[in-house]
Amino acid sequence: MKILSIVGARPNFMKIAPLCDEMAKRGVNHYLVHTGQHYDEKMSKLFFEQLAIPKPDIDLGVGSGTQAEQTAEIMKRLEPVLLREKPDLMIVVGDVTSTMAASITAAKLLIPIAHVESGLRSFDRTMPEEINRLLTDAIADYHFTTEESASQNLIREGVAPEKIFFVGNTMIDSLLKHVEKAEQSTILKDLGLSPQGYGVVTLHRPSNVDDPGNFGKILKALAEIANGGLPLIFPVHPRTRKRLDEYGLKSFVREHRVGEAAVGIMLTDPLGYLDFLKLTKESRLVLTDSGGIQEETTVFGVPCLTLRENTERPVTITSGTNMLVGMDSQKIVFEGMRCLREGAPHHAVPQLWDGRAAERIVGKIIELVGP
Ligand code: UD1
Repeated sequence: MKILSIVGARPNFMKIAPLCDEMAKRGVNHYLVHTGQHYDEKMSKLFFEQLAIPKPDIDLGVGSGTQAEQTAEIMKRLEPVLLREKPDLMIVVGDVTSTMAASITAAKLLIPIAHVESGLRSFDRTMPEEINRLLTDAIADYHFTTEESASQNLIREGVAPEKIFFVGNTMIDSLLKHVEKAEQSTILKDLGLSPQGYGVVTLHRPSNVDDPGNFGKILKALAEIANGGLPLIFPVHPRTRKRLDEYGLKSFVREHRVGEAAVGIMLTDPLGYLDFLKLTKESRLVLTDSGGIQEETTVFGVPCLTLRENTERPVTITSGTNMLVGMDSQKIVFEGMRCLREGAPHHAVPQLWDGRAAERIVGKIIELVGP
């Protein structure tokens, strides 16, 4: 049996790492493809090192571009690899452009596809990730889900129940495996922070950062929370960095210099996995538009305000610490200050987020395709 897996962008790496581990443990013949959608040292290489992901067997090196350019390049460059390697099954994870482009390529070559983190829906087709999720799930053969709502979405879309497996969350497998190591991170000391004495911000969605009006309003709300007494640490995604420079929005924030105590909103470069885990775990509040961070804060029990109108991960609200606040400045500030007074809402770790999702997935794949 030969399994080929695809990764491309930062949030894929923590989802694939435990699957690589588990396949190695069980002696599965595994071939890893990096599409090169993310290529910066801090967006890619650092994660491979810290998560001990094996070096990819091939890097397609597609790099940046429009969604269509990236999709086309991935398909063009992946097709000969699939024809040569002839895998029995291809694994894709998450919802990035690489996930969707690789799935279309494999489906046309009649290679069975397993989608890990299948079935999540924001019901918002202005998000590129929603299109990627819908297309991938329409052609995947096996669907591994992280929460019950995802399995229900797939059933509603006509996927046969025997192709859907509720297994838990491989991103949380990675978190639980690395949380102890993350304790050794010196990030708090480096930034002059003490536990519970700061908040964390991440923003990179086109709808939030590509429009100067929206981005300005969000930064103004963040500045108000920071001035209200909670320094905010903001590791900046490359897209967001570009927009900050272009729109001249730097007046709200200041650059970080190592060893200096935090005040106001402090920008840093994108952080590695272990530093970011430590920073999040010890924070008083997280404000984000990321998907994965809503799940990580739920497990850490840290209050999370999601700066979006919807979430494809409803269990982080019903069970976890997440709350949707959209882009309304007043609501962001109001809820931010409320979190500071009241702390996290009552919460529980969602079902099967127990560190063993990869074990269940690889076990099932061997049963379906193997030995
Ligand atoms: C992608 C995913 C998103 C995920 C995010 C995490 C899609 C549609 N979106 O968005 O779901 O939450 O990754 O980061 O796949 N850039 C660099 N260096 C890099 C990578 C990107 O400078 O290593 C810059 C480039 O200018 C690029 C821009 O960031 O144009 C956006 O990168 P892209 O891969 O298109 O999407 P993300 O916004 O990162």
